[in-house]
Amino acid sequence: MLVSGTGSILQALLDACAEPGFGARVVAVGADRDGTGGAARAAAAGIPTFVRRLQDFPDRVSWDRALTQDCVEHKPDLIVAAGFLKLVGADFLSEFGGRLINTHPALLPSFPGLHSVRDALAYGVKVTGCSVILADAGVDSGPILAQHAVPVLDGDDEDSLHERIKVAERSVVVDTVGRMVRNGWSVQGRTVRIGS
Ligand code: GAR
Repeated sequence: MLVSGTGSILQALLDACAEPGFGARVVAVGADRDGTGGAARAAAAGIPTFVRRLQDFPDRVSWDRALTQDCVEHKPDLIVAAGFLKLVGADFLSEFGGRLINTHPALLPSFPGLHSVRDALAYGVKVTGCSVILADAGVDSGPILAQHAVPVLDGDDEDSLHERIKVAERSVVVDTVGRMVRNGWSVQGRTVRIGS
């Protein structure tokens, strides 16, 4: 898994992986910065962690290459980016394209990017939510695996709305990853089908 922050979605997956029959385990957790809650949660669960900071590399291409190599070494079947706030590059996608999952706190294609909860509130939508997608080279543009709607309540601010979205995200990510690893998936154009 790849994280940049608190790692509450990572924790939900770690908890699910402990359930018999879930069908997956987290082999490693990578971060793009030091001191993430996600890396602390992984360490507490005895899972290997690594950090690759963009500022330690001369350019984005070499950072992407190092991140790709770190991930290759752990031989994952799937990579889940949960609150990972960097776009991966060509090397990463050539290795893991089609099996890199990203979770996003809005109903794509509405409100892509880093401020989707704020943008949805500013637009005045009454319903937003979360999207779990197969990441591609664009910003939150890949084929959609699953979505869940969350109502915007009177009086919501960015934090209260994001917290409610994250409650949904945790169960949608767990459900989606579980079904993918147990049943497989196929992609035709923009349409993803999980299971046969
Ligand atoms: C989640 O809402 C995730 O969708 C969002 O960061 C949060 C991570 O929460 N990701 C993005 O906004 C990426 N564009 P967590 O650290 O508690 O799992």
